[in-house]
Amino acid sequence: MNDVILIVGCGSIGERHLRCFQRTGRAEVAACDANTALLQRVAQQYGVASFSDFNAALTARRYDGIVIATPAHTHVALALAALRHGAATFIEKPLSTNRSKVDELRDAAAKSGCFTAVAYVYHLMPWILGTREFLRSGEIGRPLHVSVATGQHFPTFRPAYREIYYARHESGGGAIQDALTHIANAVEWFIGPTTRLFCDAAHQALEGVTVEDTVSVAARNGGVLVNYALNQFQAPSEMTIQIHCEGGSVRVEGHEQRWSVFRRGASTWEHHKAAPLERDDVFIAQANAFLDGMHGKATPLATLDEAAQTLKFNLAALESARSGKAVEIA
Ligand SMILES: NC(=O)c1ccc[n+]([C@@H]2O[C@H](COP(=O)([O-])OP(=O)(O)OC[C@H]3O[C@@H](n4cnc5c(N)ncnc54)[C@H](O)[C@@H]3O)[C@@H](O)[C@H]2O)c1
Repeated sequence: MNDVILIVGCGSIGERHLRCFQRTGRAEVAACDANTALLQRVAQQYGVASFSDFNAALTARRYDGIVIATPAHTHVALALAALRHGAATFIEKPLSTNRSKVDELRDAAAKSGCFTAVAYVYHLMPWILGTREFLRSGEIGRPLHVSVATGQHFPTFRPAYREIYYARHESGGGAIQDALTHIANAVEWFIGPTTRLFCDAAHQALEGVTVEDTVSVAARNGGVLVNYALNQFQAPSEMTIQIHCEGGSVRVEGHEQRWSVFRRGASTWEHHKAAPLERDDVFIAQANAFLDGMHGKATPLATLDEAAQTLKFNLAALESARSGKAVEIA
């Protein structure tokens, strides 16, 4: 029998979750959004039950899983309610915009026994998974230095950026919490948690907002030196992560959907590329992973603890950008 999944927040990413959970063929989906016009359109388009109020949705029936796809400052309170309902809980990134009730959420998740994960979708990208597995094999030794260069023209991908959560830090906006957090989480997944960082950030280009759209970070993840360069105005949509290890280098090129190895002594890169993927493919894989997790199977999804660690990265980066000082992460 199919699992019953409630999607809370059916905006840009929530609608994608709804569609991709449907496309697994393993879920009966219901929709909840406070915006009634949007909700009506989504309910009609996908033929699903709909609720404009989260509590009304929870009392109407029992859900096996709840996906929280609202702006970040609302995630923790909604996740606590989802766990009280007894549902497996899948939370969009970033976990929150502050540390309030994050420990309570971790306790509640542990006590409930419900499967809980955070939708850092890079965990489902074959070029990220391949890199992680290769690094963990130890074949080219210990990582020593990581260098990230990434960016895109955000207004092209999200024309409404001025009107949504992105416009304010308090609702999870700005380049650090919205975009850099994906890469910081992926780097932590590769080499372990960030322990110290210095962040410089500024608003350089995006019209109609004042939050940072450009970020430079110099970090340490334990013994590994890491630097990030990210902006949200450049013309090419590209993401490159280079991980230089004792015995060679690994390179992830998200825009090429490939990862590559250059072994010490070799003369060229060895590329690993899977069949081309559409954007929904990775989200369908993510939905399947969540359904697997609900049924006790191992998944590559980000855990609550990993997302709580990346939240520390986000908050430290914001603090460092404000103070002009390096920040230690406990
Ligand atoms: N993984 C990704 O690639 C990715 C991409 C985009 C956004 N996100 C994340 O997903 C979250 C949502 O982003 P978005 O772009 O879809 O935002 P959005 O503004 O397009 O949609 C959010 C929706 O939530 C609804 N909402 C807010 N509070 C609600 C409540 N209490 N009950 C019911 N509905 C409520 C709003 O009406 C809105 O329709 C953010 O945390 C964002 O960072 C992730």
